Amino acid sequence: MQIILCDSPEQVGARAADVVEARLRQGPTVLGLATGSSPAGTYRELIRRHRDESLSFNQVTAFTLDEYAGLKPGHEQSYYSTIRREFVDHIDLPLEQLLTPRGDAADLVDEANWYDAAIVSAGGIDIQILGIGANGHIGFNEPTSSLASRTRVKTLSGVTRADNAGFFPKGEVPRLCLTQGLGTIRDAKQAVLVALGENKADAVRSMVEGPVSAYCPASVLQLHRRAVVILDPGAASKLTLLDYYREAQELSDQL
Ligand code: GLP
Repeated sequence: MQIILCDSPEQVGARAADVVEARLRQGPTVLGLATGSSPAGTYRELIRRHRDESLSFNQVTAFTLDEYAGLKPGHEQSYYSTIRREFVDHIDLPLEQLLTPRGDAADLVDEANWYDAAIVSAGGIDIQILGIGANGHIGFNEPTSSLASRTRVKTLSGVTRADNAGFFPKGEVPRLCLTQGLGTIRDAKQAVLVALGENKADAVRSMVEGPVSAYCPASVLQLHRRAVVILDPGAASKLTLLDYYREAQELSDQL
């Protein structure tokens, strides 16, 4: 796991955008998109580079990470609407190249299977952008998710529903979701996880320095060959080997 320590959330966004841009400049790219506040700065920076530096997303196919069950794509809080509002509507990614699992599918199990197969048919994800939940989840893979799981229907935990209650009138957060599995995420050729703020510090420590355990789903990234974790000072504040990560970063920046 490569740990990149940043001075500010803006720097986190810029470093993550650098990783994405480097891949985009190589040619057609399959991008995995996370929602949530953590990658928002990354998307803002990519939008800026599109506007000011002609970074193009025309050759990108994008797959979102997860979706609430029961919501139509047009619902204000669906992750499809969210990713369009916060990113896709501001770049030149053709809408037919944005894929999401449909939360309103008649058969959610079929939908999940179709979605996982669509990722494989596209050649797999080149770069998967990730945030992390305060309980260590990635996507909506809640604690105790199988480390080998594929895209499937999951029950949201009470913690996650409480965290997202503010986005729904009367706090009525859906109870089920569709999410790429931990095995699906692990198949991405590169994973870029961004975390901001002290409320993520425990989850970040478990992910990076704890045992690989379904209890901290993000710890599956320890088994990933190319995982980059980009942190602001708050999110990094509980790591034990901070000095080592700093030294490794300085040396790798010189390569
Ligand atoms: C949701 C999303 C995750 C995201 C997490 C953290 O549960 N399904 O993909 O990483 O929230 O969100 P935030 O970045 O807003 O803290």
